[in-house]
Amino acid sequence: MSSDSEILIRQATPADAPACSKICYNAFSAINAAHNFPCDFPNAEYADRLIQGMFNAPGVYSVVAESIGKILGSNCLDERAIVHGVGPITVDPNTQNRGVGRRLMQAVMDRSRERNAAGIRLVQAAFNSRSLSLYASLGFDVREPLAVMQGRTQQRSVPGCTVRPATSADLDACNALSHRIHGFDRGVDLAFSTQQGAALVVELAGRITGYSSALAFFGHTTAESNQDLQALLCSVDSYGGPGVIIPTRNAELFRWCLSNGLRVVEPLNLMSAGLYNNPAGAWLPSILF
Ligand SMILES: CC(C)(COP(=O)(O)OP(=O)(O)OC[C@H]1O[C@@H](n2cnc3c(N)ncnc32)[C@H](O)[C@@H]1OP(=O)(O)O)[C@@H](O)C(=O)NCCC(=O)NCCS
Repeated sequence: MSSDSEILIRQATPADAPACSKICYNAFSAINAAHNFPCDFPNAEYADRLIQGMFNAPGVYSVVAESIGKILGSNCLDERAIVHGVGPITVDPNTQNRGVGRRLMQAVMDRSRERNAAGIRLVQAAFNSRSLSLYASLGFDVREPLAVMQGRTQQRSVPGCTVRPATSADLDACNALSHRIHGFDRGVDLAFSTQQGAALVVELAGRITGYSSALAFFGHTTAESNQDLQALLCSVDSYGGPGVIIPTRNAELFRWCLSNGLRVVEPLNLMSAGLYNNPAGAWLPSILF
């Protein structure tokens, strides 16, 4: 690789997606295999669809690092809420640990500051000592230990709770709930996943007490109580991608998942810089935050 000064960081274009998705798949396959974890993506095509989607999505700012016309890695910033989310960030395995990741992180942090985001967050693979060190040295604090969990709960419903697909008529109530619990909403993300048919709400006594943008790696879930979360988790036969992400300090929920037969896939950490409120309710982050 050429010297640091020759590394160009620029905004990604859709034409960069094939090279970046290859790097993304290779980088995650290599680091996960080195630690005996399954890859976060089932195959290269999945990574390709993900990167294509991120690079083309409104509200997502993507950057690439390149040197002498060769792409070395990429990073994305989800700007759809007042708190921004970082990832996926990946650097070509042949070029790692030489400063490219730091430059890609700095680029999205600068962008987030320019856009006056209240805060910036990410979810990090807890076994990855390099990314943990990199993000902490850039100013991110570890906020929550997490576990990706997969399976089908033995319990299939929670008495009194009804789970149904979300509709656009539910969005105001869901966003108000998110404000109460997190201090901000993720309305753009939720409206999109509602349109896609992925979002769910849980009702108790005719009132919305929780929602999930998707019970999946890329979905977030917000609820008044663990009971509402459990009703959502019971309502499907499996979770999208590697699984749902459980904050393990929510010991009651974590033990409930374990006693219901869910299995831990991998440990993660939620990290943040800028605004962070301890959530005033029950919640599951997405792989971004
Ligand atoms: C994580 C990743 C994006 C980082 O990019 P990179 O180019 O390899 O990282 P950089 O060289 O810019 O920075 C690594 C920093 O961590 C430090 N570091 C690495 N291992 C460390 C350790 N065990 N303890 C302390 N610091 C460590 C390095 O010294 C460097 O710090 P510096 O900038 O102060 O010198 C890249 O390694 C990657 O693609 N990994 C696979 C995919 C992945 O894990 N993505 C992130 C998911 S959370």
